[in-house]
Amino acid sequence: MRIALLYHRIRIEERLLIEAFAQRGIACDLVDARRIVFDIHENRLPPYDAILDRSISHTQGLAATHVLERFGIPCINESRVIETCGDKLRTSLALASAGVPTPRTLAAFSPESAIEAIETIGYPAVLKPTVGSWGRLIARVNDRDAAEAVLEHKSTLGSTSHSTFYVQEHVRKPGRDIRSFVVGDETICAITRTSEHWVTNTARGARAAGCTVTGEIDEVSRAAARAVGGGILAIDLLESPDRGLLVNEVNHTMEFRNSIEPTGVDIPGRIVDYVAGVAGSRRCAEAWEAVPC
Ligand SMILES: Nc1ncnc2c1ncn2[C@@H]1O[C@H](COP(=O)(O)OP(=O)(O)O)[C@@H](O)[C@H]1O
Ligand SMILES: [Mg+2]
Repeated sequence: MRIALLYHRIRIEERLLIEAFAQRGIACDLVDARRIVFDIHENRLPPYDAILDRSISHTQGLAATHVLERFGIPCINESRVIETCGDKLRTSLALASAGVPTPRTLAAFSPESAIEAIETIGYPAVLKPTVGSWGRLIARVNDRDAAEAVLEHKSTLGSTSHSTFYVQEHVRKPGRDIRSFVVGDETICAITRTSEHWVTNTARGARAAGCTVTGEIDEVSRAAARAVGGGILAIDLLESPDRGLLVNEVNHTMEFRNSIEPTGVDIPGRIVDYVAGVAGSRRCAEAWEAVPC
């Protein structure tokens, strides 16, 4: 079995994954996304059974998996999953279409209609770029003055990912959110992320603690993973005082360094076992096709 790990930077997560491959005796080549040249007409890569995409750049990870899938190499996650999860509007659409509970979300395409969307939701409302992570550039607007200021900044200074105004109800969560990890069809563990700030990303200083995977967390997490196409995913859940758990977003190349110790779950090991399973089933399918009828 031969697997490749596509990366931009070897962070703690990538190091842990490389160790987990080595512990299992699985050959894993490191492919630097910044150095590789793909000839889209001809696959010149070694015969990989699967590729684990750990690109930091959403755009580049998506482009690379499109090419790799064209070569017939299974990618984890699949390009269609990256396409959905890398864009908050697409994620919300996938969740809403599948009937997965999610915060009320409106989309608008001009500052004037965005104000209308915000006032339809009511204050406070949350504005987010459709592409982004680590809690960057998301804004909670408490009144019309703040809304107008943020919208003017977005439309004057923002990149294209700010030209879609993604407006969401503010969920009165209890000073934390829940992040669950789904691998295949299993919710392998969850953490709470607690902060004094309403933005509870660990990249912004929130504290991670282990969280029991209740039946509700398991059910809603797996439903969210299925809605975006499945694979290896981290689900952000908001505890709404009146609607129960709402899926805020689904992350397709998650960080997990802060979640291993509080959960006691070998997250990199579980990821590698899943990737090996995908690679192995592809090998079986090929061997099966090779058997003469
Ligand atoms: N609608 C919301 N209501 C309450 N809190 C929110 C809402 N949206 C985001 N947050 C908070 O902000 C954090 C970051 O938002 P998120 O949509 O996950 O963006 P990112 O991709 O940057 O992580 C969430 O983990 C949560 O703590
Ligand atoms: Mg998030």
